[in-house]
Parts: sequence; C-alpha cells; structure tokens
Amino acid sequence: MKDSQSSTETFQMDYRQSLAEILATHTGIPSEELLQSIETPQDPKMGHLAFPCFRLAKELKKAPPVIAADIATKIIENRPLWMADAKATGPYVNCFFDRTVFADGVLNALLHAGENYGAGQQGAGQNVCMDYSSPNIAKPFHVGHLGSTIIGLSLDKIYRFLGYNVTAINYIGDWGTQFGKVITAYLKWGCKEDIETTGIDGLVALYVRFHEEADKDAALNDEARGWVVKLQGGDEEGLALWSWFVDISLRDFKRMYARLGINFDHYRGESYYNDKMDAAVELIRQKGLLQESDGAQIVDLEDYNMPACLILRSDGGTLYPTRDIAAAIDRFESFKFDKSLYITGQEQILHFAQFFKVLELMDFPWAKGLVHIPYGMFRFEGGKMSSRRGDVIKMEELLDEAVAKTRAIIEEKNPSLADKDTVAEQVGIGALMFNKLYTNRIKDTVFNWELMLNFDGETGPYVQYAHARACSVLEKGGYAEGGNFDPALLVEDEAFDVLRIIYDFPAKIEDAADKYEPFMIARQLVALAQAFNSFYHHHVVLVEDEALRQSRLVLVRAVQLQLKIGLGLLGISAPMAM
Ligand code: ARG
Repeated sequence: MKDSQSSTETFQMDYRQSLAEILATHTGIPSEELLQSIETPQDPKMGHLAFPCFRLAKELKKAPPVIAADIATKIIENRPLWMADAKATGPYVNCFFDRTVFADGVLNALLHAGENYGAGQQGAGQNVCMDYSSPNIAKPFHVGHLGSTIIGLSLDKIYRFLGYNVTAINYIGDWGTQFGKVITAYLKWGCKEDIETTGIDGLVALYVRFHEEADKDAALNDEARGWVVKLQGGDEEGLALWSWFVDISLRDFKRMYARLGINFDHYRGESYYNDKMDAAVELIRQKGLLQESDGAQIVDLEDYNMPACLILRSDGGTLYPTRDIAAAIDRFESFKFDKSLYITGQEQILHFAQFFKVLELMDFPWAKGLVHIPYGMFRFEGGKMSSRRGDVIKMEELLDEAVAKTRAIIEEKNPSLADKDTVAEQVGIGALMFNKLYTNRIKDTVFNWELMLNFDGETGPYVQYAHARACSVLEKGGYAEGGNFDPALLVEDEAFDVLRIIYDFPAKIEDAADKYEPFMIARQLVALAQAFNSFYHHHVVLVEDEALRQSRLVLVRAVQLQLKIGLGLLGISAPMAM
C-alpha cells in the first residue's frame, strides 16, 4: 500500500498537458495550441481524452483518419505511465487512462489540496467588481431579485475561488421618485412605531396607499414631486426621513442576506453617486456626445441600432442610466477593475447595452471590461410571476415556505435527526438556490416545490444527501485524514466513473467562470452524486479487508470533499447529516 502523502511524484495529474506535449513532438505544433483541442469524449468507452485530427489534414496533405492512425501508433510506442492505450477511431486519436495510475493521481491531487482542490491562480492580480442583488428601498425584495442574488453569490464564490480579487457591491435602489411618494404618504397616514415594527412591509403599504389615493386626488402627485425636488436640494426633513427608510429597508434585506450567507463588501446604492453625477454629465458633454431632444439631454445611439440613452430629464433630473454611468466611472477609480459584472434580469439588457456604449464612446478603455449577465424569469406553474403592486411574491415568504416544506420532509424521513431546524434551513434554502442554478442562466426557471425538493431528483437536496451519506460512511468507518490507500483497488467501473468526474471538476469550475454559468458546476455535482450512489450500491465500503476498506474510505472522502467544494461554490451548505 502506498502512502498517500508521498506518491504524487510518480506521475503527473495533468494528463491533458502531458498528452499535448506528446502530440507536439509528433506534429510539430506547439503544445499550448494542441491543449485547446483536446476533448473529453461523451462516451468514455470511446476514450478518456481525444484529439481530433481534422485541422492537420491541410498541412500534412493526408486524410484525418490516416493521420489519427499514424499518431496513435507513434504514441503507443512510447506511451507515458498514465496511458493504458491509444487508438484511432475515425479522425480521432483516443487515449485511455491506466485506471490505477489515474486513481492514484486524482486522489492524491484532491487529498493534498483539500478544500482548495481546483482553486486556481487563474485570477491572480485581477480585480473584478460584481453588482448583484441590488433591491430597491421601500419596495419588497421580491423573486425578481432572487435570480440576481443567487447567481451573483455563486459567481462571487467562483471568482474568489479562482483567485480573483472580488469586490461585491450591492447597488441598492435608494434614490428616485418613489421617495417623494413614500414621504408624502408617511406624513399623511404613517406612524413611526408602526414602521419600526413592520419594516419594508409598512413602507410598501404606504407606497400602495399613495397610488390608491392619488388615483382619486391628483394633488398628491404634485406634493410627491415637491418632495423629490426638496430631496434633490438637500432638504433636511426630507433627507432624514429618506435615510430612515433606507435603514429600515436595509435591516430587512440584511436579515435575508444572513440566511443566504451573503456578505457584500460595499453597500453603495444609487444615492452614493449623487455628488458624482454632475462631473459624469460634464464629461459626456465634453466628448460632444450630449444632444437635446424634447428638452431632455440624450446620447444618440442610432448608429448602434439602439434607442437614445437618456441622460437628463427636461427638469434637469438624472436617470437610471446617468447614475449607472457615474457609478461605473467611480468603480473604476475606486477598484481599478479588470472586469465589472452586473447581474440582473434579462429585461434590462437594453439598459446595459446603452450605457456600456456611452462609456465606450467616452473613450474609457476599461469600458470593454463591463459585462452584463442577464438571466431568465421565474415562472410559477400556471403563469409568470407577478410584480404588480401588492401581489408580489416576497422573498422572505419564499424562504420560509422552502424551509417549512423541508422540515416536514425531514420529519417524515428522519425524525430522529439532530438539529432539524438548522438542517431544514440549509436544505430548504439550498433547494431553492440549486433550482435556480441548475439551468442555463437565460432559461426561465420553473418553480415547482415538488420537483425542487425531490430528494431523488436532480436537486440540491439530492446532492446534499449524497454528501451527508458520505459523511456518515466516513464516520462509521473511522476514516482518519492522511490514511493510506491502494489505487489498484479502486479500478472498478463505478470507482473510475467517480474519479473521472472529480478529475474534470476543476475545468468545469473554470468554464463556469468564463461563461458566467454556475449551472456547469451544478450539473457536475449531480453527476458526481449519481456516480457515488451507484458506487455505493455496487460496492460495500466497510468490508472486513483492511486495505480495501481503507482505500474505499479514501474514495468516499474524495467524493465528500468535492461535493462540499462544489456546493460551496453555489453558495449552498453541505450538512453532515440530513
Ligand atoms: N435596483 C435595480 C432593480 O431592482 C437593479 C440594479 C442593477 N444594477 C445596476 N447597476 N443597474 O431593477
């Protein structure tokens, strides 16, 4: 049996790199270029790493299958330790891992790195700003913000994991005409104690009442507008009320963020940029981009097939794009970002395209680092989510419902579980998050409690359950860190499947980061949980034989670690029991 601490030097884990170097000697093409084209065949029976020869055909003036056969023969003559076989299948050179060497390599790499397995240097020295969640003050934190919050959190975790220096910003909507309405309503019908206890709900009720009453009495609108002007002019009474509304709302938001495990580096809402707005508008003007249109100031974007970007209203007031332009400039000055990501619903695609273009026309070289990351809607069975006054589905209610439903399932499945409340919170919220992160971002998410809480489906609870099962096996087996294993005992199909998924995991994380698609990690997690369950059903872990038991326990530990890492990158907890 080998000591798992000291066997890494017998092979290299970087099989792709190794293959690229071998191919380079046979083709004369630099290995970095070849590395890009090495694929993982869908069906492992075809091979474990594949190299397509199409692009060599032109240079070598031979048919791809002939080239593939030729290369395969050369490789096999002098194959590296990790390779059991290489053969040509049509235009592809397919290489097969030696299962023992592979098990040794993958397990050592993972166990040595521990929870940092896959953590990269890719992002070293790069600054990334992320603007996510960003709900609006005195308005409910509704499901529309859920997507931004969940996807943002996951990208935040992924980028930090890969070594990027991330600055997470909550750009709360804390400025705008709604405050004139809320102030008017509060002064007419509000009560301080009431708002202190009801929080955002109380503020929203005032906002709703304002609209109801204003339908009957138009003078209210003038009053509200009057307050907006006063706020802009720095009126003390107005600003004191506004800042109290902000506090009340943040208190509610932060309660939710605590449940979701989110910590923003900065709360810099729209108002933070108020004193930076004039300079931004002035810059746009200096660049000769500002034009008058019906009394308003705009930047014409006809040449770019977009409607004009509104900069100043006819009364001189700033708009959503103006504030975003000022904010982007300030973020670059403050954080020197290489990339600045904005995560919002897809209904804002045009807004981002417009103000990104304005910044580009202003000749800011960093404007090319601005990225909008849109996502699809939540659809509830039987219709799309409503965001009309009054009948929005609130985030907190959603979390509570997820947790309550999970609590009931646990009560039924595992009534003797310790600390059921904590686990229900972790699993319920995890289920919600996983459901949003399991599909391509831009696809709508169908909201169905039964599906998302199905412990046997492709769900968060399913992955968490596999993790808990692994923890329990490790405990029963008395697993101790740094234990020995014999890789030759981990070569069954099921073990090999598990190991291949773990081997691919770091690349999937990098892919997820490059494409801003956490679902690539979520899919990999489900695949790993499935492969592990299959291993578990085919092979007894806690067998009599000491060497076999220890080796299988090491495999289980690897699965447990990888599941925990992956769930963590989605912002989801990995309870030890459930
Ligand atoms: N508060 C906005 C909303 O609720 C989202 C803000 C997104 N971020 C930004 N920089 N515009 O729709």
